[in-house]
Amino acid sequence: MAFLFNSDAARGAIFREIFARELPDLQFVGPGQPVDPDKVRYLLTWTVPADISRYRNLEVLFSIGAGIDQFKQDSVPEPVAVVRMVEDGIIRMMQEYVTLGILTLHREMLAYRELQKQCAWQPLAVPQAARRRIGFLGLGILAQAAIERLKPFQFPLAGWSRSKKQIDGVTCHHGTDGLAAFLAETDILVCLLPLTDETRGILNADLFSQLPAGARLLHVGRGAHLDQTALIEALDHGRLAAAMLDVTDPEPLPAEHPLWQHPKVAITPHIASVTQPETAAHSVIENIRRHLAGKNLIGLVDRTRGY
Ligand code: GLV
Repeated sequence: MAFLFNSDAARGAIFREIFARELPDLQFVGPGQPVDPDKVRYLLTWTVPADISRYRNLEVLFSIGAGIDQFKQDSVPEPVAVVRMVEDGIIRMMQEYVTLGILTLHREMLAYRELQKQCAWQPLAVPQAARRRIGFLGLGILAQAAIERLKPFQFPLAGWSRSKKQIDGVTCHHGTDGLAAFLAETDILVCLLPLTDETRGILNADLFSQLPAGARLLHVGRGAHLDQTALIEALDHGRLAAAMLDVTDPEPLPAEHPLWQHPKVAITPHIASVTQPETAAHSVIENIRRHLAGKNLIGLVDRTRGY
């Protein structure tokens, strides 16, 4: 029985060592290493390899990342289970980045960046955290972990998800009907949605028009959630006050793109949260053990929903 690791060599070396220790009976196969394709039961990758149908006995396809939107679903044979990466490293990094982003937007750091360019010593008014309402679009594992970190600041916390959720200390909205009420009470909107056909382009002019004037956007989902032209318009017309983007479309964002120079925009190059090989290897091993024992997999994707 074999595990095929189809990602970068540096992370592969760490995975290999941990797998050798924890699952010595499972053959660990790195990229380009020979393997009898019939032995491959597990595959870890970022994109679906073109020759996936060679692995006739493949049972689980693991994404190396938290998202699985990069998988062309119809290229994955039907009986194969698809699993997204749920691991402590990704979760912790997302908690850090969301906290950083919320505080950056709350404390006007983008406006101060511009004032600093003018050597202008100019304090700006800031509401108390208890009066700055934070709203999460998407209430999955990463959003819920970030929410836990934000609680001590005393921001009012709300969230919206496709299906109904209940989270301590969070005003939860759901479904198409719940979106307008959620947006109307959100001063800083955090996008942590999965990218699906339903959420593609969701951050658009119509959605921005439903936020309170001067709202802010923290985007840590996927570039394709966002209509970038609509964002620039909303910022230029004062509907939105600032945006922090960790994802763009395309990536990398071309040097001539107006978002780079926009005074109300901060951009980071898709680094909010990155799979950490030490913790990720243990998560994948745990899932392989669960699979061998016939138990439910952590992060199993509902292939009809797409996340
Ligand atoms: C990064 O965006 C990931 O999916 O892990």
